[in-house]
Parts: sequence; C-alpha cells; structure tokens
Amino acid sequence: MKLWGGRFTKATDSFTDHFHSSISFDSRMYKQDIEGSIAHAAMLGRQGIIPMEDCELIQKTLKEILVDIESGKVEFDEKAEDIHMNIETILIQRIGDTGKRLHTGRSRNDQVALDIRMYLKEQIKDIKVLVKELMTVLNNMAEKNTDTIMPGYTHMQNAQPVTLAHHLLAYVEMFKRDYDRLSDTYKRTNVMPLGSGALAATTYPLDRDFVAEQLGFAAITLDSMDGVSDRDFVIELLSALSIIMMHLSRFCEEIIIWNSQQYKFVEMDDAYSTGSSIMPQKKNPDMAELIRGKTGRVYGHLMAMLTVMKGIPLAYNKDMQEDKEGVFDAVDTLKMCLPVFTRMIDTMTVNKENMYNAARKGFMNATDAADWLVKQGVPFRDAHAIIGRLVLYCINSGKNLDDLTLEEYKAVSTVFTEDIYNAISLETCVNTRTVKGGPSEEYIKGLIKSNKKIIAEMK
Ligand code: ARG
Repeated sequence: MKLWGGRFTKATDSFTDHFHSSISFDSRMYKQDIEGSIAHAAMLGRQGIIPMEDCELIQKTLKEILVDIESGKVEFDEKAEDIHMNIETILIQRIGDTGKRLHTGRSRNDQVALDIRMYLKEQIKDIKVLVKELMTVLNNMAEKNTDTIMPGYTHMQNAQPVTLAHHLLAYVEMFKRDYDRLSDTYKRTNVMPLGSGALAATTYPLDRDFVAEQLGFAAITLDSMDGVSDRDFVIELLSALSIIMMHLSRFCEEIIIWNSQQYKFVEMDDAYSTGSSIMPQKKNPDMAELIRGKTGRVYGHLMAMLTVMKGIPLAYNKDMQEDKEGVFDAVDTLKMCLPVFTRMIDTMTVNKENMYNAARKGFMNATDAADWLVKQGVPFRDAHAIIGRLVLYCINSGKNLDDLTLEEYKAVSTVFTEDIYNAISLETCVNTRTVKGGPSEEYIKGLIKSNKKIIAEMK
C-alpha cells in the first residue's frame, strides 16, 4: 500500500504510477532529503514531539540509508513516487513503527521545498567557483595581452583599435555581474521552508529556527502558504544561468569568427577542436559551437518554468513537480559548459601579428587623424572633411593613412607635419585613450590589478 493509501480502495493504475512518479529525476536529492529528515527528527525529539530514543534511532538509520545509497545498495521504486517517500519507505522497512514517526508535523510539500532549496544552494556554490575560475583565466590572459592591438568593431566593421586585454576584460565585467547575480539568488534560496506543512503549518510546537540553524539556512519562510508554493528562486537561478549562457555564447561566437581562415586571430588547441568525417583538412571549433547551441536549452528551461508557475493558485499543486528536470538540466549544462569554455580559452593560441595587421585595415585611426588636426587649430568639421578626402584618396590608391607620404598629406592640407605619423600610429590611438574604461595600457594594467583583488576576495 502507498504511504498515503488509507482512503483508497484501488491501486494506482500502473501507467499513472509511471506518469506521476518523479523518482527518476528527483533521486539526485537523496542527500538533501536525508539531511533534512535528520534535522527534522532532531527537532521533534528536542521538542518532545517524539521520544528521544525514536529520534536517535531514526537519525542513525537515516545515516545508514545514506551510506547504502552512496554505495549503490539501494534500489528506488517507482511505485513509491518520489525520493521523499522512497526514503521514508526504506526507513519504515528497517525500523518499523519508529520510522513511521518521522513524518510528524511535516508534509511532502514543505519537504520538497526544503530539498530543492538545499540542492540548489550547493549547485549555486559550485557554479560560482566555475565562474571565478573562468574570470581568473580571462584576467591572466588579459595581463599577457595589454599591448596586443586588435580591431574593435561596431556593426562587425572595423571601428577603432583596442587591445585583446581590453576585449577580454569586457567579459570579466560580464562574469563579475553573473557572479553577483548568483550570490543574490543564493540569498533568496537560503530560506528554510520546513514547518509550512501542507500549506497551513501545523499544531505541533515545531522549532523552525532550530531546523534552519541545523541545516545552515540564514532565515525561515514567514508565511506557510508561500513557503510551500514559492519557486521564485528556481526562476531566478534559471535566469542567472541563462544570462551566463548568453555571455558564453556571445564569446563563443567571437571565437568561432576569430578562429576562421578569414581572421586567424586565434587557433584553438587540438584538444578542444574536432575534425570532419569527410574533409581531412578540417579542424572545427565544435566546443564553442556546442556551448552556443546549449544556450537554447537553458533559455528553454527558464521559459518553461515561468510558464509552469504563471497559472498556479496557492498553495502547492502538482504542477510544481515540473520545477526539477529543467533546473537540474540547466545546472548540469552550466557545469559542463563553464569548465570546457575555460580550458578552451586557456589553451588557445593568440596570433598577435594577425590581429595587428587586421587593425591596420579599415582606417581605424581616421578619428585620431582628425583629432590631431583639431589640436593644430583646425575646426573639427573641416578636419573631418580633410581626413574624409584623404581616406577616399587611400581607397582609390589602395593605401593606408599611415603609408601616405608627407607630400600626399600636404596636397590636401598644408597643416600636416611629420608629427601626424606618430599621432595616428595604432599604439598612440590605443594608449592616448587613458580615460577610465578605455584601452590604454596604463588604465588596463590598473584594471587587471584591481580584478585580481576582487577575484581573490570573491567568496
Ligand atoms: N514529488 C513531489 C514534487 O516534486 C513532492 C511533493 C508531492 N506532494 C503532494 N502533495 N503530491 O513536487
């Protein structure tokens, strides 16, 4: 008979059993379920709700069950529906009536809310470590490339020269925000719902604060109806994970472009590339493509969860069982993508020369050339027109601004002197942008230093 079978006269249809059972995916919360039950039992004993010797036997047996699960000795049963009833069933099989006292003052509704919060707290911590590792690699790589000049793009057109360090640090900024978002989600996940009961709490004198303390929660939920029916933290996490994937995906897109024959800015390590089954010459950036692709499934889980929750009246409804597979898959996906991405970046080779040569194309120093004229007293609009004419001349003669002779410059404006060459060198363009946030080596070195401190202090 089912643990809830008292008022039933018929067994569940076997197809129904299969349909509504969640053990195939919620078994991964076995540890949290057992830890939660141990804390609950401790509280029941302490409050005199169950005899102390029952409390002790329950705790001891739960610990044994944990060991047995971890050594593969336990087989879960679909008919017992979910991880909560599977473990309770095993407990009762082992210690009979004493085991039946564990569920006093508790419902699976607050139990599952507790387990998922505990499980996700651990996952958030793991993912934060992975984000931190990625930031470390990016910041170190930036340190080696503060003078690696490359084109900066707008509209995918050469715009102004930047450095690879400047580009990499843009991603460090994104991952800093991602890290903060995870910490913020953690705060709202770190609230203990047990004691909410099915929805209206309980008449037993539970000590919820004691349970929260035992399990390392910072606070308890303050309304039992909210306690059992809130899944905002799942949605928040999915949203934070989606944003991380979006950042990884943008970066992957760039790496795929940089790795192409047309760009050759970077070369992926063989260990992070794959070949073609037909074209022997191929070396494809599959890892980057797969991460870009997997972004879709994480977004999908966020959308699914928002949609699952939108029509659920208070309090618990079985729809909420749909919270797990998506967020579990999202967490698994991030835990694969982040380390692969980090190693892929860490092992790729940067072709500084190709980046530099690409930065020489597209008249990216045109703004600086106009600014130089302005500094010589030419009004900006006139300077803009003069450089415009020179650019047109360069296009027609297949030259760069830097390659023009002083005579060619002077033919358009007599203001030009030898100084123009230094003023429009890529190095000058980059390093005179000393304003905070800009690409100058001076500023970027300072940012790398402060990032190191920020990363070291991240907890
Ligand atoms: N497996 C269920 C879930 O994941 C546990 C709670 C079930 N509660 C209930 N009253 N059916 O949400």
